[in-house]
Amino acid sequence: MRAITVVPGKQGSVACTDMPEPPAEDGPVLVQTQAIGVCGTDLEIINGEYGSAPPGQDRLIIGHESLGRVVEAAPGTGFTAGDLVVGIVRRRDPVPCPACAAGHWDMCVNGRYTERGIKDRHGYASERYRIHPEYLVTVDPGLGKLGVLLEPATVVAKAWDHIERIGHRAAWAPQTVLVTGAGPIGLLAALLSVQRGYQTYVLDRVTEGRKPAMVQRLGATYVQSGDFGEAGKADIIIECTGYVQMLLEVGAQHVRYRITCLTGVSAAGSEATVDPGRLNRNMVLQNSVIFGSVNANRHHYEMAANPATSRPSWTSPTPSPPSTISSAGEPNGQGLESPEVTAPSSTRATTWPLTSSVRSGSISMAPMKKHTAPIRVWLSARAALCTWPVTGLM
Ligand code: BGC
Repeated sequence: MRAITVVPGKQGSVACTDMPEPPAEDGPVLVQTQAIGVCGTDLEIINGEYGSAPPGQDRLIIGHESLGRVVEAAPGTGFTAGDLVVGIVRRRDPVPCPACAAGHWDMCVNGRYTERGIKDRHGYASERYRIHPEYLVTVDPGLGKLGVLLEPATVVAKAWDHIERIGHRAAWAPQTVLVTGAGPIGLLAALLSVQRGYQTYVLDRVTEGRKPAMVQRLGATYVQSGDFGEAGKADIIIECTGYVQMLLEVGAQHVRYRITCLTGVSAAGSEATVDPGRLNRNMVLQNSVIFGSVNANRHHYEMAANPATSRPSWTSPTPSPPSTISSAGEPNGQGLESPEVTAPSSTRATTWPLTSSVRSGSISMAPMKKHTAPIRVWLSARAALCTWPVTGLM
């Protein structure tokens, strides 16, 4: 079968190659790939900066953001032919560590986890793949090919899960959220914020183009870099650019119990002046938290696929909505209906951005390595890198 592969570590090695059919030991569910998302992590792999092939093999099949359709499934797997599905990226380590043993492979502590399409395990950018049902999630068919955005949505679903777990260490009633970066991850983070009923601000550098309008259509408020305004008092910040200096310096205001989650990955080696005493005072005296978040476990895939039904029991089901947001979590008078798809209200979306910003006016934002992808494409029969007849495409 054809697959998009690279020789990890070797720039320019990406190619459409013939690879063996997926082995039976990969799992009892056979899936035909419908679409693949390409993110910053893929670009790093293609550039030879990241990724590793399965042990004993030269080439790695890439593709960790995927959408597929079940071709055949053994009885008892819970899947049937025709199901629209997304494969989970990470696999627990072989030891397993306490986190992986509990299914929290996104929190693996020994680093021996594997990731499909990224680390030691073939990805989904092949005509077909096999998988164990534990690592497969059903997608609402109404989402159509937007279902390929489930994986990036799981990354922010996990971020939200952990923000709320941390928040509930004490009585907590956040009202406002600031998302930095209006790229795909930032917009998805903002979407989940609006769904939770928070007054949501999205910060980015651009003044034109689709981003400001898309932020508005999500029910959030677009904020231009250098002008935080009310957004600077946010109770929760989700950083989606990889540029954390801005938050350490400008964002470290006296906001009590602020929770800041970093999801962007920056290149090592950048320099910034940060006043550690000020940072310490703000953190300690305000009970504030800054933490990082990567990857997602099965629970987060379920949260992203069914956000209305998979909130943990310890969170309040409906946070007090700010006045401008309806109790349904949508802006008053503004629907989020897409002209192309009918999807559950929780996942309704319009066209997502194909580009991401990395630089801002008065605040320079270093190019992020992951999550804010310079390109995000659908792999289809017309894909430039590799073509094959994709039958049954929705
Ligand atoms: C993926 C994550 C993965 C991370 C590091 C991201 O692009 O979305 O699932 O854990 O890269 O490999």
